[in-house]
Order: sequence, then structure tokens, then C-alpha cells
Amino acid sequence: MKKVIIRKTEEIENWRNNISSDINFIPTMGNLHNGHIKLISTAKDDNSNVNLVSIFVNPLQFDNKSDLENYPQTIDNDIKISFANGADAIFIPSTEDIYPPNNKNIKFIKASLELSSALCGLNRIGHFDGVCTVIYRLLNLIKPKNLYLGEKDWQQLLILRNLILTKKLNVAIKSIPTQRDFDGIPLSSRNVNLSKNERELIRVFSNELLLAKKIFQQEKKVNLKEIIKKLSAKKISIEYLEHLHPYTLQQSSVEDNISILAGAIRCGETRLIDHIFLMRRRPIIAIDGPAGSGKSTVTKLIAKKLKLLYLDTGAMYRALSWLLKKENIDYQKEKKLQNILKGISIMFKSNGNANQDVFINNYCVTNEIRSQEISSIVSKISSIKEVRKFLVEEQRKIGESGGLVAEGRDIGTTVFPDAELKVFLTASIDERAKRRKSDKKSEDSQKMDLNKLKELIKRRDFEDSNREISPLKKANDAIEIITDKYSIDEVVDKIIDLYNERIPKETEIK
Ligand code: DC
Repeated sequence: MKKVIIRKTEEIENWRNNISSDINFIPTMGNLHNGHIKLISTAKDDNSNVNLVSIFVNPLQFDNKSDLENYPQTIDNDIKISFANGADAIFIPSTEDIYPPNNKNIKFIKASLELSSALCGLNRIGHFDGVCTVIYRLLNLIKPKNLYLGEKDWQQLLILRNLILTKKLNVAIKSIPTQRDFDGIPLSSRNVNLSKNERELIRVFSNELLLAKKIFQQEKKVNLKEIIKKLSAKKISIEYLEHLHPYTLQQSSVEDNISILAGAIRCGETRLIDHIFLMRRRPIIAIDGPAGSGKSTVTKLIAKKLKLLYLDTGAMYRALSWLLKKENIDYQKEKKLQNILKGISIMFKSNGNANQDVFINNYCVTNEIRSQEISSIVSKISSIKEVRKFLVEEQRKIGESGGLVAEGRDIGTTVFPDAELKVFLTASIDERAKRRKSDKKSEDSQKMDLNKLKELIKRRDFEDSNREISPLKKANDAIEIITDKYSIDEVVDKIIDLYNERIPKETEIK
């Protein structure tokens, strides 16, 4: 594709009309640094869409005239950097192009009041309205599939996500973690305006935030007063320093697994922001749903792509059922059952084929637990109070420090009710029976007549959904995906998109 530079709005409209593939859009205000490069190269590596970078210093988002006048402009170099790192086209409009005087079609947008009434919004009146206005205008001209934004401007990212949602725009936001310089300070176009002394101040500030993250990992708390005291002692002028919920930007509560510690400081004429995310434990994804809904296949792929631990809780109920059967234990007898549960250990071990082996008391039962014999008793056994208590505790131990994707029937409702993402996967009974029939893990299912298989699945659905303790049920805050018409990859991508929306990329950085 021929690389192009576009300067006029009519030209960008023509260009857009002639493009049939999807577009990745990377809006910038120029003076590109490694943060922008990371955005452009991430877009290029993500997919084969056309990558469009825009360079436009938006006057509407400046609340201070001298800040606008001093905003560094390096257009020639920006063009070189953009093309060298994967841009296919660059849009460099003038102010008159974006805001033609007397054009009644230009919509001036108000940013979400809740989200802009915190942090930078309190001191930069109108700033986020300006950001929303320009992005809304650009999105309407460019109609991209993906919008690439840096997490460095986290509040801006939240406000734009809200804009996309409320204006019902069909755009996905992809984010990248804050890119930092050698000394730990976040890369910013404004850094070139810093004196040596000012740069030292922001370095101290950023490093104090990073230290707060380390302390949080051990103590699980933030001491805002202490940080402010330390920074003030170093003559750092703090505009704000807040510990908030990362999505609502309301005060953080002890229940929040993820929170944000965000601050702004003044260095001479320049105002600099930085933040870090704090996590009590790594994220958890809960995937629930009936038999044959595609849970296992999807969950395994997600675990691999997101480098999370994979926990198949159904395999634990199956393994226990296998042992009770093998040892001929009358599981209706409470005392006997309690005794046997005391001595049970269930373990998963990777078997090298991207699959896991399941062990119960050192027996490898990976294949046996998929037999029809086990499938026909597992629902009954899994409805027993003592069994559920025992296995739920085991599952919580495995997920104590997070970093896992667990599949089952009660993960979102009972095992990990505070999971960051809960998905309820379903499919029609016909589709689920078809899938079970072609399930390579279960020879019994492959041999069975489709109608018989349907009956068995229906019975298991009934038993799982109607048992007294933690029945199969969609959690109130779970997202339901009916998988009939989607391929496995489509379901996986959907869930990963949802995960990326909820978990800042930055939390993946150790
Ligand atoms: O996902 P699966 O088909 O391997 O699960 C086997 C059975 O285990 C299922 O029919 C009900 C039970 N189960 C449960 O009760 N709770 C879970 N979290 C997972 C499975």
C-alpha cells in the first residue's frame, strides 16, 4: 500500500471511502516519542488493518494559552517516525479543517461528568470536553475499527471509552502500558520542556509511586499522607495525589482488587502526571456454563494467550467421583465421606501437549474421568454439601494469588465472586450435543447416538441447575455469550477483549 500524507478533511473522507479493510487509528498531538512508537508498532503487530496516525494539536483541550503556544511541534520528524514504525497513512489537519468556522455540523461534546470531576478534570476546566470533541470528530471522519491509546493518560482513556459507549460508536479501544524513560519517568511530549532540576523532581515523584506499589504488594495498603509528606519535604509541588477505584475514579475501598494511585505535580510551567495500578492479587476470569458450551476449549486457549493458570474445576468433581466409585464408597453416608475427603489430594500437571493431567491421590485419571460412567454420577456427587465445601476450598487455595482462568458451574457465583471478569457460556442443546459427540477426550460420547447424548446432557443440566447448593446459574454481573454461531477463535477474542477492557495492560508489568 502506498504511504500517504493527508491534510484536508475532504481528502480523508475520500481516502476512507476507498479503503475496504479495517482501520487502526492512533491519534497523537505530535512530537512523537517511544510511547507513540509503541502504539503504532502495537497496532501494526496486532492485525493486518490499515494504520492511520493523526497529528493534530487540539486547541480545545488546552486550558492555558502559553501551554498551547509552547507545545513542542516536530512534524517532519513525526512523519518519519510514523512511517518507519508501521503507519500506512498520516492525517495532519489544520485547526480550520477540524473546526471549520461557522460549521454547524461540528458537535461540541461534554465529557462524562462523573469521570471528569476527578484528578486532572478538577484543575483543567474544559480539557476533557476538548479531548472528547476532537476524538469524536476524528472517529466520525475515519471510522476506525480500533482506537489505540496509551494508559499513561488513564483518565482520558476512561472518558473516551465512556464517549464511545454513550455515542454507540463501533470502535474498540486497545491500550498500551505507560512507557517509561531510563530513569522511570513516563515518556511525554512535554518532557522536552523540562529543565534538569524539574526532571529530577518528576523522577523523584515517579519513583515514589513505584515504591508505593512495592510497599502495597507486601502491606496491602497505601499511606497517602506519608507519600505527600515525603514529596513535600523534597519541595515537590503536588496538585493532587489520590487513591481511587480505577474505573469509576471514586475513592478506593478495601474491596477493590485493583486500584489506582494517581498524581499530578507542577514543575515550573509544566504540569506532569503519573500513576500506578495497585493489585491485591492478580486478575481472575470466571467462566461458567452448562456441559458442551465450549468452556474447556475456550478457557484453555485464553489461559495460554493471557499467560494465566488454567483451572478445570469440573475435572476435580470428576476425579473425586472416580475415586469414590473406585473405592466403592457409599457417598450418601456423611461420616464416611468426611473421612475420605480429609485424605484427598487433587493435582494438575502439565503434560507437555498444552494439556493437563489430573491426579487424585497420585492416580493419573485424565482419561478415565471423561467416561460415560463418571459423567452419569458426577452431577449427583457434586451436589453433596461436603463435596462442594471441600472442593470450593481447594479451588480458592489454587486461586489465592489470582492469575488464573477457572471454568465450572459456580465459579462466578461462589468460588471467585470477586473475579474481574465473569463469562457465562451457553449454546443450544443441539449444538452442545454435536460438540460432545466430536469430543476427542471422550470415546464414550463419540460412540453414542446423538439423541441419547442430548437426553444425557439435558439431565445433567437439570441436576446441575436445580441442586440446592451453588447451582449452575449466571452470576448477576456475568456476561452471557451464546456460542452457537461463533467459532472458537471468535469466542476467545471476545473474552480477551472484555478482559483487556477491565484489566489495565500495565498490571501485567512486574
Ligand atoms: O465441566 P464438566 O462437564 O467436566 O463438569 C462435570 C460436572 O461437575 C458437572 O456436571 C457438574 C460438576 N461441577 C460442579 O458442580 N461445579 C463446578 N464448578 C464444576 C463442575
